[in-house]
Amino acid sequence: MYELPGWNRLRRGAQGADRRIIRRYLGRGGTKRLQIGCGRNPRDGWLNADATPSSADVLRLDATRPYPFPDASFDYIFSEHVLEHLTYADGQKMLTECARVLEPGGAIRISTPDLAFLVKLYAEEKTDVQRRYITWAAERFTPGAPAPIDTFVINNYVRAWGHLFIYDEKVLRGALERCGFEVRRRFDVGESDDPELRGLENADRMPEGFLSMESVIIEAVRRA
Ligand SMILES: C[S@@+](CC[C@H](N)C(=O)[O-])C[C@H]1O[C@@H](n2cnc3c(N)ncnc32)[C@H](O)[C@@H]1O
Repeated sequence: MYELPGWNRLRRGAQGADRRIIRRYLGRGGTKRLQIGCGRNPRDGWLNADATPSSADVLRLDATRPYPFPDASFDYIFSEHVLEHLTYADGQKMLTECARVLEPGGAIRISTPDLAFLVKLYAEEKTDVQRRYITWAAERFTPGAPAPIDTFVINNYVRAWGHLFIYDEKVLRGALERCGFEVRRRFDVGESDDPELRGLENADRMPEGFLSMESVIIEAVRRA
């Protein structure tokens, strides 16, 4: 495809900016932490990356392509509500690259929507938080729905926002194991046995209790 010379200059400029972000981050001492798909939740002390960076400090990185880091560059990787935006096959590419760029023994924390949450949402008997969730989600995301009905919320959830694959705990565990990780265990939002991985989720973006209900959060370590 023909491109104007200006586009090439712009692209080179962007790549130069990304190289500077990487050099600056990996050149500093101490623990190295990578967040993939940070969106509007960049964390201090982390190399924050996203396919569509929200600021000049965020590295442009497509999680499904080879990462521009040497092997074993990081001690920690965190990725929240990103994996569901990839096909299962692309998710495997992401996790394989994550294993490559993590130190052996380095930890990954993956949060993604839980298919079990949607299945439970459809049950006849609903908890108070499920009822509140359905009303909230139906009003915001399914404007054509005649009423706040679980069927509309669930249909929307599996297709909206570019969602391509909704995991559950067993499939996420298997995906991590297949890509070179040893699964530690599941955690709730904000909780971890490792202080480095505590309090990372962007829980304020929805009413209290909703992110916890939506998500399966697994930590794993890179096998030696
Ligand atoms: C639902 S948002 C989550 C943002 C943030 N992690 C949070 O939880 O608030 C999904 C993010 O994944 C990013 N994303 C989607 N596909 C990606 C890819 N292939 N590589 C990197 N980031 C991607 C999007 O740009 C977006 O910022």
